[in-house]
Amino acid sequence: MKNYAKLWLKYPAKKNNRECEALKKVVFSGSFSEDKILENAKKELALGLKGMLGFEPQISISGNASVTCEAAGDRSGSPDCFNKKVLTSGKTIVDQETYAVSIKNGNINIASDSSTGILHGVFEILRAVGCEKDVQKEYAAEKTFRPSNPLRMLDHWDNMDGSIERGYSGRSFFYDNDEIIINERTVDYARLIASVGINAVVINNVNVKQAASYMITDRYFEKLAELGEIFAGYGIGLYLSLNYASTIEIGGMDSADPLDEGVKAWWREKMAEVFKKIPTLKGFLVKADSEGRPGPFTYGRTQADGANMLADIAKDYGAIIIWRCFVYNCRQDWRDKKTDRARAGYDNFKPMDGDYHDNVILQIKNGPMDFQIREPISPLFGGLKKTNQMLEVQIAQEYTGQQIDVCYLIPMFKEILGFKTYCSNAKQDTAGTGSDNGLDTVADIISGKTFNSRYSGIAAVTNTGNDLNWTGNYLAGANLFGFGRLAFNTELESDEIADEFIRMTISNDNDVVDTIKEILLPSRAIYEKYTCPLGIGWMVKPATHYGCSVDGYEYDRWGTYHRADHLGLGVDRTDKGTGYALQYNEPNASMYNSPENCPDELVLFFHHLPYTHVLHSGKTVIQHIYDAHFEGYDEAVKLAEKWETLKGKVDDEIFENVSERFKRQLYNAKEWCDQVNTYFHRISGIEDEKGRKIW
Ligand code: GCU
Repeated sequence: MKNYAKLWLKYPAKKNNRECEALKKVVFSGSFSEDKILENAKKELALGLKGMLGFEPQISISGNASVTCEAAGDRSGSPDCFNKKVLTSGKTIVDQETYAVSIKNGNINIASDSSTGILHGVFEILRAVGCEKDVQKEYAAEKTFRPSNPLRMLDHWDNMDGSIERGYSGRSFFYDNDEIIINERTVDYARLIASVGINAVVINNVNVKQAASYMITDRYFEKLAELGEIFAGYGIGLYLSLNYASTIEIGGMDSADPLDEGVKAWWREKMAEVFKKIPTLKGFLVKADSEGRPGPFTYGRTQADGANMLADIAKDYGAIIIWRCFVYNCRQDWRDKKTDRARAGYDNFKPMDGDYHDNVILQIKNGPMDFQIREPISPLFGGLKKTNQMLEVQIAQEYTGQQIDVCYLIPMFKEILGFKTYCSNAKQDTAGTGSDNGLDTVADIISGKTFNSRYSGIAAVTNTGNDLNWTGNYLAGANLFGFGRLAFNTELESDEIADEFIRMTISNDNDVVDTIKEILLPSRAIYEKYTCPLGIGWMVKPATHYGCSVDGYEYDRWGTYHRADHLGLGVDRTDKGTGYALQYNEPNASMYNSPENCPDELVLFFHHLPYTHVLHSGKTVIQHIYDAHFEGYDEAVKLAEKWETLKGKVDDEIFENVSERFKRQLYNAKEWCDQVNTYFHRISGIEDEKGRKIW
């Protein structure tokens, strides 16, 4: 195997030795178990400090640190036993993973009630050293770190043949030719993601077909058990995507009806076998009744029927079922203006709110459509009030530049997390003022605080592959790093996260750090400008989802239209149109329902407007389209120029990689700019006020 990049775990020599004296002696304290995770924590600390500061610390353990799994009555031998303890002790995952760092008697002290907390504490310290912080000052007063979310998950869309659905970084490092690969890289992957706070991973594509359907059979148990142990050693729970119709596809039955006793019996037997053979397995992710995948609808049953059937059986093993809400009609007639794909998630899942069992989590994409560069927040957030919920975002840049275009997504995730749903507004404030008990945001809901839910969190469709730098574009590593950091602490700012990523991965030189931040931070806004205007989305080539094609989806079956004609464009989702805007709580519903109140960036998502409509910005829709596209392209050119100033200041390999990507980004941005502007110039017949060249 070639030498792949170690990214933020490279641990090169640092200059802050004097400020790190306290690290010569490190104390782990608390009531954690002395397991594989603790062993890995010690190893990592020694490795990191040796690399960065040139010494290995003396590590000691204090307090009642010998609570073992056996003592807690859990299955012994399982390195992640603390997670299983959670199920019986009543302590939440978040309580368990909380840790504190302080300086006591001149030594660094990491305190936690789980070995995973200690491991996270080790990574916190290594990050501080890596960013050349003054450790003495940093922890002079004790700092407590409590994860914002119980589950912080990465979803791989890796197929067992080695391909990756929507993968832009090479092939899978988990599979090739229907076999599971386990090597040094697997361990380094676990280290990389644990180091940023990830505690759960789904290792196979949600579209479970062919060999992947057999993951829950003898064919793969041994390797999966081994993989599970590796992840568990870093406090990461293993999850598998499940084929809902396994009873048919591997069980030889003729039904997958969730209420059928034979189907239930098959699953009971299957799960007993699976959890025995893969002791670290934490549960399953299911894509049902979606884009051709089988599901309970076939039998006239609800999504809740399907999820609950599996969850009731998985419960005996302390496992959970994560059920996706990406259920919509993907065979729409484009002539049909009443059916609205945006409505589908809410229409399919809201009516059963309260029916989903305790160990079911509904996994909801951030927007009602599908990971576009700009979408409103799914109204299921704020709509569901009695159901465990998890947010699904996508760091694989399917519609956001495919790791060719630089698009730092953390600012977008911050907006999503900060969205106020007004879900605690019990009586639906018709005056439109809304109410706020302080727990109304998406971040509050998925943290479990709003509805006191035990299982909740955030997942990202991941952007990794077997490219030497893991993410195709080196700068796309910021999304992997950033997602983990943000999932662990939703209060972190995009700037801080970018700063850490650059210092840990590329350079600690302040000028370099500033220049790269100037590239990363505005990159999402720039991508949005030169692609689809005002929230309309979908002007991409249908086959690849990369590159401009204004009408690519217009007459297709996917429910993704812009409805442009010579007078205007946009989709009417108001009370006079599809009614989607009314799925929100007040005051959001009223805000989105009116073109006067709707924020500019989403106005074409909710409204069909004439080109001459004047936005809040004071520009007409058509002038906004022209300006945004010209500006977006010009700004992308400036980003590329900034990058060129780094030649000789960053590693050549990193420099060349990003430089090459920028060339492709500029080509792409120019195509978007010219095609979108030309299209709307021709169709509207309205001139650009500034008289720029339109083709
Ligand atoms: C998108 C994506 C598919 C994926 C699907 C999903 O539609 O293009 O490749 O399977 O999302 O989230 O299930």
